[in-house]
Amino acid sequence: MSMNKNLTRRQFLQASVAGLSFMYLPGIGRVKARPFGLMHLDDYFGRLCYNENPLGPSPLALTAMQESAPEANRYPDWYSSTLEGDIATHHGLTPNNICAGTGATEIIRLIADAFLSVGDEMITAEPTYFQMAYEATANGASVVYVPVDDNYVIDLQGISQAITTNTKLISLVNPNNPLATCIHKTDMEDFINSLPSGIVVVVDEAYHHYVQTSHYESCIRFVTEGLPVIVVRTFSKAYGLAGARIGYSVASAGYTGQIASSQNFGMVSRLGQAAAQAALNDTQHVADTITLNHQAKEILITGFIDLGLEYIPSETNFMMFDTGTNANWVASELASRGYQVRTGWGMPQHIRVSTGTLEEMNGFIAALNDILGVGVVAETRPSVGLNHIYPNPFNSQCTIKITTFGNEKVFLSIYDTSGRKVRTLVNKTLTPGVHRLTWDGRDVHGRRVASGIYIVNLLQGEFAASNRVTLIR
Ligand SMILES: Cc1ncc(COP(=O)(O)O)c(C=O)c1O
Repeated sequence: MSMNKNLTRRQFLQASVAGLSFMYLPGIGRVKARPFGLMHLDDYFGRLCYNENPLGPSPLALTAMQESAPEANRYPDWYSSTLEGDIATHHGLTPNNICAGTGATEIIRLIADAFLSVGDEMITAEPTYFQMAYEATANGASVVYVPVDDNYVIDLQGISQAITTNTKLISLVNPNNPLATCIHKTDMEDFINSLPSGIVVVVDEAYHHYVQTSHYESCIRFVTEGLPVIVVRTFSKAYGLAGARIGYSVASAGYTGQIASSQNFGMVSRLGQAAAQAALNDTQHVADTITLNHQAKEILITGFIDLGLEYIPSETNFMMFDTGTNANWVASELASRGYQVRTGWGMPQHIRVSTGTLEEMNGFIAALNDILGVGVVAETRPSVGLNHIYPNPFNSQCTIKITTFGNEKVFLSIYDTSGRKVRTLVNKTLTPGVHRLTWDGRDVHGRRVASGIYIVNLLQGEFAASNRVTLIR
C-alpha cells in the first residue's frame, strides 16, 4: 500500500468518526482511534443493532469448531482451499470462482483494492451499507451516491444515468441494508445487461437467505453467464457465525484472481474454516432461522401497526420503522430499557431494529409502547375491536368480526408477514356496533394469495388492534 493510500485511509477515518455524531450507534461514547466506534456489548439480550442470528451458530458448525479446537495450535489451510472447494460445490461452480476471507468485511476491502484507485469513480445507493464506499474513498476513488426511489428501493435507472467514463465499480447491497428492500430481478437483469464495458458490479448478498419475495434473484447467475459481476456473501447472518468471521466472493476466475492477489495467507482461522464447511450443510439451521425471523417480524409488524407507526416492508432480518419523532431520543430510551438499535443514514425519525428471539421482540414492542405512550387506548374501550376471525385456519374465505364505535373512519386491512398490504376490506365510516366482514383470500387485484399467515389490522381513530389468520390452500 502506498503512502498516499495510507494518508487517505486515515483522513477518511477521521471524517467518518466525526460524522457519527449525528447517529445513534451503541457504544459510540467509547470511540478511540478506530473507525465507527463499535463496542462489544456483553449483554446479548436486546442486542438488536447488528443483525445477528438470535438462534445461535449452526449446531453442526458448533460441533465442527469443538472438534477442531484441539488442533488450534496448528496453522489452518493457508488459502482455505477445502472450504473454497465446498463453497464452489454448493453453488455449482469451481474453486477458481471463490475467494474466502475474514468475513465479507475483508472481501469488500480486497475488492476495493483490486478495482479502485485514485481518479476512479464508484457509484452506490444512498442509504446503503457503508463499507464499500469507505474502502473506495480509502483507496482514493470518489463515490457517487444515488438516492433510493420513493419505495426505498435502489434506483438502478438513476445509477445508470450517473455512469461516467471514470466509473469503475457499482456497488449494490441486495437486499439493502438498512432499508431491507430488494431490487426486482428483471430490473437487475436489464441493468446488468445494459452496462458499458469496463465496469464491475459488486452485489453484497449478506441477507439473501431471508428474502421472501419471488421478485428477487441472486446475482450468482450472472457470474455463471460470464457477466462482470462479483457477489459477496457472509456466514455472519443466517448461518449464525458472525463471531467466527467468514465471508467469500463469487466471481469469474479472472476477477477472483485479482481479488485474492492482495489477500494475506492464513486469514480464515482453523475454527472458522471448520465452522463454515459444516454450516453449509446445515440446511435445518437455516430453515429454523428463517422461521424464527418470520415469527419475529410478525411481532414487530403487529406492534408497529398497533402503535400506528409506519414501517418499510422487510426482506431481511431487520426492519426500519418511522418513530414519528426524534429517532435518537427513542433509541436512547430503548437502550435504557435494554434494547440496542440503530439510527442514522440521514433518516432522523427512523430506527433499524434487528429481529431477535420472540421474547426479545415482545419486550422490544412493550418498551416502544412505554416510550411512545400509546397502546393504552385499547384498554379503555374493551368491547371495541377485532373480536374474532373464523374459521381460522381457513381455505376459501373467513369472517372477521369487529366492533366499532363513534363516527371516525374505520380501516380494516390484511398484511402479509413481510408487512406488505395485501388488501383493504374497509376504508369508510361504519355505524357503531358489530360488523362481520368477509375475506376471500384474494389480494387487491383479485388474485388468490398464497398459503401462509396474514395479519388483520383494524384502525379507528386512535384505536388499533391486530390478529393473525392462517390461509391454507
Ligand atoms: C450488507 C452487509 N455486508 C457485509 C456485512 C459484514 O459482514 P461480515 O460479518 O461477514 O464481515 C454486513 C454486516 O452487517 C452487512 O450488513
